[in-house]
Amino acid sequence: MLNIKVTRTTSPKKKPEGELGFGKIFTDHMFEMTYTKNQGWHDAKIKPFSNLSLSPATVIFHYGQEIFEGLKAYKDESGKCYLFRPDMNARRMNTSAKRLCMPEIPEEDFIQAVAELVKTDRDWIPTNPGTSLYIRPFMIATEEFLGVAPSNEYKFMIILSPSGAYYKDGLNPVKIWIEDEYVRAVRGGTGFTKTGANYAIGLAGQEKAHADGYSQVLWLDGIERKYVEEVGAMNIFFVIDGKVVTPLLNGSILPGVTRNTVLALCNSWGYPVEERKISAEELLTAQKNGKLEEVFGTGTAAVISPVGTLRFQDEVLTVGDGKIGTLSQKLYDTVTGIQLGTCEDPFNWRMEI
Ligand code: COI
Repeated sequence: MLNIKVTRTTSPKKKPEGELGFGKIFTDHMFEMTYTKNQGWHDAKIKPFSNLSLSPATVIFHYGQEIFEGLKAYKDESGKCYLFRPDMNARRMNTSAKRLCMPEIPEEDFIQAVAELVKTDRDWIPTNPGTSLYIRPFMIATEEFLGVAPSNEYKFMIILSPSGAYYKDGLNPVKIWIEDEYVRAVRGGTGFTKTGANYAIGLAGQEKAHADGYSQVLWLDGIERKYVEEVGAMNIFFVIDGKVVTPLLNGSILPGVTRNTVLALCNSWGYPVEERKISAEELLTAQKNGKLEEVFGTGTAAVISPVGTLRFQDEVLTVGDGKIGTLSQKLYDTVTGIQLGTCEDPFNWRMEI
């Protein structure tokens, strides 16, 4: 259990009014703890949100040794606050840490740090429909050293951002570009982790898609460039001929918390569910035969995001009737209902803090 020293701000910021957007506004406080080889994790504190001061020779700036997580806090009408499956994030943070040669954090310490910080800034949890407090835990290598080697020092920090929908169009179906030039990840790389590099690598494809009016890129596998993997900020699901289908986790795909949640819900509702390879060609054929019923992305930030249009090379496919599908809507309502405490929580995913 961490001994967290709390220093409260003496100049609280003005709370936002109106549209929040995503990840633009930050609360009054942040969590920070330090790792050194000799002392392990120590000096856990909650302090006023402030800039960092680091040497220009710090490892993070040169070799990108960084990992992060994303989860959310919610407040119900009676003022109770909840996290959603924070144990999954704690575990995945350590999977990422191992791959990037960074120190692990005991799962209970990760959850305690998140919960304590959220409680400190509980007045910042927004309650308008579609909003929540986005939580961003992250770890950076802080040793001052230019050799290529795992750092001997790290900082683990958490910041909070009251946010609305990830996509500015909210639940309106987004347009997704299936990318066949750039790739995001290959097996043996870091695709299954949450490290900044996975997202930096994706920017060129995303810019290309944006230039053509598409919101995000659906990546193909890095070897055959044939099978769909995931979208820039979410996992991907298809409803094909009555079956719920999603790419199998193969080492280059992020094991999303919302992905896992959707699979559990669909299984419990009795839908036929398949985790398997899905080629872009299969999607084209299914759409031509009228069998591509729904497409949606899943993610902590994105929640359930319906996809209305897919583009692959010269083909532009409209999914279903271009509107949010029945299953996508049911999943959105159920997932957000469980998160907000308005739906039953049969899997005990909600954690009151
Ligand atoms: C999340 O959904 O929490 C993510 O980390 C995706 C993101 C890059 C916004």
